[in-house]
Amino acid sequence: MLGSAVATQEKLHERFTGVVPEIASRAHVERILPVIDSALTQAAIKPQDITAIAVAHTPGLAGSLLVGLVAAKTLAAAWQKPLIAINHLHAHLYACQFVSSESVYPCIGLVVSGGHTSLYHCTSALDLEYLGGTIDDAAGEAFDKVAAMLRLGFPGGPAVSRLASKGNPKAFAFPRSMIHDDNFNFSFSGLKTAVRYAIVGPGKQDFDQVKMDDVSKANVCASFEAAVVDVLVSKAIRAVRRYHVSQLCVGGGVAANLELRRSLEQAAKRERFGLVIAPPELCTDNAVMGAIAWEKFHRGEFATLELDIQPGLQRGF
Ligand code: KG4
Ligand code: ZN
Repeated sequence: MLGSAVATQEKLHERFTGVVPEIASRAHVERILPVIDSALTQAAIKPQDITAIAVAHTPGLAGSLLVGLVAAKTLAAAWQKPLIAINHLHAHLYACQFVSSESVYPCIGLVVSGGHTSLYHCTSALDLEYLGGTIDDAAGEAFDKVAAMLRLGFPGGPAVSRLASKGNPKAFAFPRSMIHDDNFNFSFSGLKTAVRYAIVGPGKQDFDQVKMDDVSKANVCASFEAAVVDVLVSKAIRAVRRYHVSQLCVGGGVAANLELRRSLEQAAKRERFGLVIAPPELCTDNAVMGAIAWEKFHRGEFATLELDIQPGLQRGF
């Protein structure tokens, strides 16, 4: 890695306790060129040193994807560089290969981010078979909503996790939806509702009126986190066993979660499989994971200037 720049928008979305798509795309417009400049300056390279330009065109919020795609196409045309299209979720998993000295393939890949919770059987960086994913909310979205209910700020993952470390994970018996189902799907909406009932009770919505002491809040966080971690770890193990692979790779923002990391490490030791979790700084969105573009470069898979965004594409190519 020669340079890495991230323009965080967290402050802009904080008072809405979630990402507002229009605000996100405007902020992308304002920040994209300074961010590219800053990465090039850190890397101490000039445009003529660049081999190709990679851009994530799927999946994600349409406006934000468009800003990135237009910037990448424009630079590719102006600097006369080949363009490479990458899938954001595949790139999250590639963060694991990026930090490994040996090939991590074949492996099971688990992506846990703000918008997705997906399992893949990966035979190479670019050959991923989608096994299943969330049928409603993503794990990260559940963390963010629990944080919003407890008025812990945005993004919620780190705040919930910090409070969870002081709580009792057995205080509330929250549901582990679909944990015993013989498939690779997830569901987190019931868990969100269960947390809501634990905080305000059925029917009520006013979280500002909630009078919950710090110990109870920590217990809610710990019990919620334990429920998410149990389901993620159990489905990942199921996939490792089913596909007879000896390696599990985990990426995406929620993979920064300490309890999830600890539980995956225990499972890997117990079940005797190899585990690579993206390092915390490469879990949340960054462009380093876009190094997956090298794999496409070596295969000669380039995009044309006709490339379009595919906001809803989950399964990849
Ligand atoms: O991968 P990411 O940066 O963006 C997407 O592609 O969605 O993931 C962001 C998500 C947010 O929902 C955030 O709350 C969650 O990752 N997150 C965490 C932690 N750090 C970030 N969730 C749980 N524990 C964390 N430590
Ligand atoms: Zn992401």
